[in-house]
Amino acid sequence: MNTITVKLQNHSYPIYVGEQLLQNPELILSHITGHQVLIVTQANVAQHYLSILKHGLSHLQCNEIILSDGEQAKNITEWQNIINVLLQSGHERTTTLIALGGGVVGDVTGFAAACYQRGVNHIQIPTTLIAQVDSAIGGKTAVNHSHGKNMIGAFHQPQCVITDVNVLKTLPNREFISGLAEIIKYGLICDAEFFAWLENNIEKLLSRDISTLLYAVSHSALQKANIVSQDEKEFGIRSLLNFGHTFGHALETACAYQNIFHGEAVALGMAMAAKLSASLSMISLTEYERIIQLLKKSELLKVQIQLPSASEMLTLMMRDKKVRAGKLNLILLNKIGQAIKVQDIVEAQIASAIESIRTDKLLSVREF
Ligand SMILES: NC(=O)c1ccc[n+]([C@@H]2O[C@H](COP(=O)([O-])OP(=O)(O)OC[C@H]3O[C@@H](n4cnc5c(N)ncnc54)[C@H](O)[C@@H]3O)[C@@H](O)[C@H]2O)c1
Repeated sequence: MNTITVKLQNHSYPIYVGEQLLQNPELILSHITGHQVLIVTQANVAQHYLSILKHGLSHLQCNEIILSDGEQAKNITEWQNIINVLLQSGHERTTTLIALGGGVVGDVTGFAAACYQRGVNHIQIPTTLIAQVDSAIGGKTAVNHSHGKNMIGAFHQPQCVITDVNVLKTLPNREFISGLAEIIKYGLICDAEFFAWLENNIEKLLSRDISTLLYAVSHSALQKANIVSQDEKEFGIRSLLNFGHTFGHALETACAYQNIFHGEAVALGMAMAAKLSASLSMISLTEYERIIQLLKKSELLKVQIQLPSASEMLTLMMRDKKVRAGKLNLILLNKIGQAIKVQDIVEAQIASAIESIRTDKLLSVREF
């Protein structure tokens, strides 16, 4: 088992990455101080892992709540359902919420923990690849509002993150592939050596070879932990994690979160940001080709949808949380392994990069 620490001034915590960790109740019990827990999960996850988790917690008051499935579960009603169960079951301030699931479960549970009785403990047990390498780490919690994604939320760090790579075996293939986008992102923004490792190991990763997965997940978690440790509230370096995301969020919004997964949108967004970096001569054409090839080999450049026009995307990008004084701040690449925040890019150049990826023959249609 690897232990990675998120080092924060007021609240450092471990991320455990390994195999069969759900079968090790001592690990989770060492982070529970009270006599009550509430497990928040979803049916797809519960059918495989809920009883294993509950087994080790049988001496505690253990309640559970099953959220509805999909991004639509990340709403204020599901958040309130969690609060209702906590109140109806008499949970005290010493309670611990346990998020057993992907990013949706993690985000809603974390937000409920941030608010219940002005903040209680929670533990993240991420079960999707995206959650294991990204969303469970760093304390960003939120629910969506009809006016926008993640519009109601808080920074609330977990007591620990328990990452059991074995649970990825039951993850549907498209969900798994979607998670690869965030792994590739770490190589692109801060680790050229890891990017080269991914180029050499992508087939093994796609086949979910356990030792390859262990390395990729641990290394990605380490990169995220390092960045969060330097900039918990995203005043500086943490914004580099948004590489590809401003384009990606615009794609997700244009598609009303239907028919495109977060990682797929981020992958297309990274392709657009790489194209823009190349057209501004920040990266070479060879580097651009390497990026596109890796995204393609990862089966990430397959879409099922008609992509929105460049002007529609630009309008949506201007509504992004990162817009300051009407100016778009974009994260671009100086080279593979080094991202940088760039301001004042001419809109026509952004539109041209979007258009170039949108109409590129490299995009193929995904069959389902
Ligand atoms: N807080 C952050 O820093 C952060 C970062 C990135 C993404 N996010 C958020 O994460 C969310 C996306 O998360 P996601 O991609 O994990 O999707 P998700 O949570 O919707 O999970 C995808 C599907 O997989 C199922 N599932 C989960 N684990 C499984 C397993 N092991 N076996 C079988 N089925 C399983 C879920 O029930 C769900 O149906 C978005 O809302 C996004 O905004 C948050």
